Amino acid sequence: TTPQLLAGKRVVITAGPTVEAIDPVRYLSNHSSGKMGFALARACVAAGAEVILIAGGKVALPTPLNVTRIDVLSAKDMLIAAQQCVDGTHSELQLDLEDEHDHSHEHAHEHAHEHSHSHTHDHHGDCGCGDEHELPQAYTEHQFVKADIFIATAAVADYRTEEAAPQKIKKTQDAMNLSLVKNPDILATISLAHPELFVVGFAAETQDVERYARGKLAAKALDMIACNDVSRADIGFASDDNAMQVFFSERYERDAITLDKASKDKIAEQLASIIGETIAQ
Ligand code: C5P
Repeated sequence: TTPQLLAGKRVVITAGPTVEAIDPVRYLSNHSSGKMGFALARACVAAGAEVILIAGGKVALPTPLNVTRIDVLSAKDMLIAAQQCVDGTHSELQLDLEDEHDHSHEHAHEHAHEHSHSHTHDHHGDCGCGDEHELPQAYTEHQFVKADIFIATAAVADYRTEEAAPQKIKKTQDAMNLSLVKNPDILATISLAHPELFVVGFAAETQDVERYARGKLAAKALDMIACNDVSRADIGFASDDNAMQVFFSERYERDAITLDKASKDKIAEQLASIIGETIAQ
């Protein structure tokens, strides 16, 4: 059995890509699969934690057992969801998201009640089908309890369209320009606002892994960062395998750790243990 190094800890994890709408039918996104974040959610539950998993974009992976899953689309909504989950102020299904096309609540309802509504629910926890539903246990339990650990594995789109077009854009012009604005850095925003939270970042680098990783560790005020070398074709992104180097904030006086190439599940188990050990220091 797995040592319960995260017993009693509340963990919030971001995973997958974000999807940034261009118009009602088109979007900007990336190829992130969400596998690392979902593997970490499983590993943290196995280590005794309570886990909220915020999945961006359209992650097609099944929700790990005993994990509360919240689906969002855009980086802006992922930030809102992360802030509310970390503060414990998300109540039932009332995440106050901005994205009108967001279907997270449908998802939550489907998981909770095994209903398969095809209509869009409003943002107030009433699924609109006319029946009375018990709220899922996980949501009520998590109310107003702050998280202990925040892990950002999401591949957040760096830029979004300034404003999504309200109607489908027509192909009447030979060329078109999209005006993009920078997305918020979810990890840095959460970390800087919560000095007491144990914050873990990920980084994908193609060169100078340690230097860039330590730069991000400092810039985003992280406790720990796990990096992989994405110049290697056999690991990272959509792959099932990963190999990582882990660096720590100076306050832990911990040497860097190298995790050899292994399945994302194995890497996730090791990372969950490392987080547990570091917190216990
Ligand atoms: O700066 P860079 O994108 O390399 O940082 C990667 C880390 O920051 C990852 O942990 C990623 O989930 C997080 N991140 C974020 N919000 C962004 C960009 C990155 O949470 N807008």
